[in-house]
Amino acid sequence: MNKTRVLAGMRSSGRLHLGNYLGAAKGMIALQNKNNNECFYMVADLHTMTTPFDKKTIRAQSIDVILDYLAAGLDPNKSTIFIQSEVPEHIELSFYFSTVVSLAKMTHLPTFKEKVRENPDFVSIALVNYPVLMAADILIYKAELVPVGIDQEPHLEVARDIAKKMNGTFGTNFPEPKRFTTKGEYIPSLTGEGKMSKSIEGSYILLTDNYEQIKSRLAKVPTDSGRGNKIPESGGVAVLFKAVEIFEGKEKAEEYKKAYLGKGIQYKNLKENLAKAIYSELKPIQEKRKKLEKNTDYVEQILVSGAQKARTEAQKTISEVRSKLGLNPSGVLS
Ligand code: TRP
Repeated sequence: MNKTRVLAGMRSSGRLHLGNYLGAAKGMIALQNKNNNECFYMVADLHTMTTPFDKKTIRAQSIDVILDYLAAGLDPNKSTIFIQSEVPEHIELSFYFSTVVSLAKMTHLPTFKEKVRENPDFVSIALVNYPVLMAADILIYKAELVPVGIDQEPHLEVARDIAKKMNGTFGTNFPEPKRFTTKGEYIPSLTGEGKMSKSIEGSYILLTDNYEQIKSRLAKVPTDSGRGNKIPESGGVAVLFKAVEIFEGKEKAEEYKKAYLGKGIQYKNLKENLAKAIYSELKPIQEKRKKLEKNTDYVEQILVSGAQKARTEAQKTISEVRSKLGLNPSGVLS
């Protein structure tokens, strides 16, 4: 039986928070643990370079992300784990792809417009090419499943378009990749507004937070009097109920909701119990991370063999595509 290929790319913008962990890492781990999948997981450091970056920290940042994911449960014996720039074939494929993509389409994407708003003084060709490179990341492994958040859907649409265009024009056999969604994917911000995000202070819990830090972050979640005749669907209280459901189970959440409609809730207790539950899930991850941090050779070795494995697969696709495009498939002049 042919295995289903999975590819995910993690951005290297700082340490993981609960939103990334529940929304992305958990899904990636679930996919890796299914026998009929073959998973490729990479840090998208080339994508980091599409906006201003620091050459002094870029690789260390990638390693940081790898450590978080390894600690959370990615297993190098089951998944191919690597850093994008260490498999340069992605760049070659993205160039071939760029020949079938219109500039207008790329500049109209909501994700592009958002980045331009954030960095109006530096709109590079690399930034316009962001979705094309992402399509190359996925299609170079002919991956069919991509575990990413809903915000990445426009990019997947681009990848499907490129696959169709390439297949139609040149006779390649790229699949049309789909987004893989996890149940707990939308993790709301602790502020009660929008989604948990690293760039919004007070919105997140880090994977590395200790019990006291978690408690003090939860303490700041806005609440109400603790009772009412309708369960709040948005705002801080809704966030707390959702977090209770995720970390303490549906039953516990129902219990609180019932109390909310009846005798009322003591948020201090709720928050304290919730902090305990969150910490007990994070503690083993933190301990594993500490061990990995001390074992840099082991981590480097994972990345070397990951890149080797990835390159072997990537080179197969590159030589196929070169041949379909009328180029020398080996890429070497004879
Ligand atoms: N654009 C993705 C993000 O911002 C990161 C990414 C790069 C990615 N290449 C990818 C995700 C390939 C999935 C597949 O999260």
